[in-house]
Amino acid sequence: MREESIKLDMGTIEAVMSLPPGPVFLLATGEIEQNVSTIGMFNLFSIDPTIVGIGIKTSRHTYKLLEETGDFTLNVPDMSLVEKVVKCGYLSGSRLNKFSDVGLTPEAGKRVKSPSIAECPLNMEVKVLEVNDRNDWDHIWYIGKVVHTDVAKDYDRSSALIYWDGEFRTPGMILHKL
Ligand SMILES: Cc1cc2nc3c(=O)[nH]c(=O)nc-3n(C[C@H](O)[C@H](O)[C@H](O)COP(=O)(O)O)c2cc1C
Repeated sequence: MREESIKLDMGTIEAVMSLPPGPVFLLATGEIEQNVSTIGMFNLFSIDPTIVGIGIKTSRHTYKLLEETGDFTLNVPDMSLVEKVVKCGYLSGSRLNKFSDVGLTPEAGKRVKSPSIAECPLNMEVKVLEVNDRNDWDHIWYIGKVVHTDVAKDYDRSSALIYWDGEFRTPGMILHKL
């Protein structure tokens, strides 16, 4: 028998921060000046057509380049890239070239101006369709269509990184398979 759990009276923000983890991405944007940044605010809005959204603070260098470029790439890092993902999440492209400083390789986008990241096994190229400001801690949502994807032959989604309230992880055990 399952023991009865004690429910805490949490605030809404604490409750949403305790939700199970989601994917973490390396977002690359920019045409002449290129930048890469770590992103956790992501949502899949539609599968076919594939529409995704990302939340970016206006204080980020990424925001400035995204406004200029109108497209971006979402690159899925695997566990071998965790240290680089951490660095891309606190260094700012306003002060240095994160690609060369962190050691990531930009590759020309196939259908967007922004580069994708060679080291990541899954790359999605996204054209911005809509910009939505929900007044959320200065985050602006960019909603866009995935116009091209590249997936490495040996991509293993069980080694893709996920992020949960300060912790980088990989997906855990399988409890049931349909
Ligand atoms: C795990 C993780 C997730 C993050 N998610 C976001 C995000 O969704 N949106 C955002 O604006 N910043 C996010 N950040 C913070 C940016 O990555 C960070 O401020 C970065 O230095 C911005 O770089 P830039 O100034 O070159 O754009 C995240 C950082 C980490 C470590």
